[in-house]
Amino acid sequence: MSAFEVIIYEKQDGVAYITLNRPKALNAYNVRMRDELYEVLGAIKDDPGIDVVILKASGEKAFCAGADLTEFLTAPPPVFARQARFARDVWGRFLSVEQPVIAALHGYVLGSGIEMSLCCDIRLASDDARFGLPEPGLGIIPAAGGSQTLPRTVGIAPALEILLSGRWIDAEEALKLKLVNRVLPRPAILPEAEKLAKKIQSYSPSAVRAVKQAVWRGLDLPLAEGLALEKRLAEQLSGVYK
Ligand code: COA
Repeated sequence: MSAFEVIIYEKQDGVAYITLNRPKALNAYNVRMRDELYEVLGAIKDDPGIDVVILKASGEKAFCAGADLTEFLTAPPPVFARQARFARDVWGRFLSVEQPVIAALHGYVLGSGIEMSLCCDIRLASDDARFGLPEPGLGIIPAAGGSQTLPRTVGIAPALEILLSGRWIDAEEALKLKLVNRVLPRPAILPEAEKLAKKIQSYSPSAVRAVKQAVWRGLDLPLAEGLALEKRLAEQLSGVYK
């Protein structure tokens, strides 16, 4: 794998760690980050030695302050930031990773930051986390899945308020809305993510992957089809143990 510039990739005891690493720019999502995430998620997906992924970010202030608004100097930045997102389906890549992905969130979690976290399976937030989708204020709409993943996660009414008003919410409200699974003091997020990862690792990788698939794919299906999917996956899994 090539050397990364704006993310750090580490692998330890079956856990893959991806760290967004542009702390001076509040880990803003730029083209380089898009490409590196695309590459690393592809490698993780195909690596049978990885059971769980932890997505985190370096620096004190932010998990990710959204799309990089300074990268494109020759035209209205949000428009170009938008085009950069479309060029590679990083979000589809996130969702295609069969291993559970745990997001460890702190500080600003804005725009692409919140959208990236919504593609993860479990979200842990530090008590200083602040969430928002500033896109309408920039004359654009979220295009990394946020208009679809936010209402699926928190329900239509809160999602519409957040998306339409641009109002930011703190960690406590994010927990109430079930946008995050748990809120913890900053130093406790990574250890808690690792504890969860260990617990998941203690189970059969095939069962874990089947559960993830059943839930995510089932969400898009009518109940009868979802139940059929669950049955199929259960049968496949029982084949694994024969
Ligand atoms: N793209 C590129 N650079 C960004 C960035 C972004 N989305 N967000 C922050 N930065 C950079 C700032 O330009 C600044 O760089 P500098 O030190 O070279 O001047 C650095 O990160 C620190 O940001 P700063 O604004 O000084 O921090 P703050 O604590 O005062 O404010 C925010 C933090 C998040 C409120 C503010 O940076 C902000 O509003 N960022 C843009 C958020 C946004 O609209 N994202 C796009 C969503 S689609």
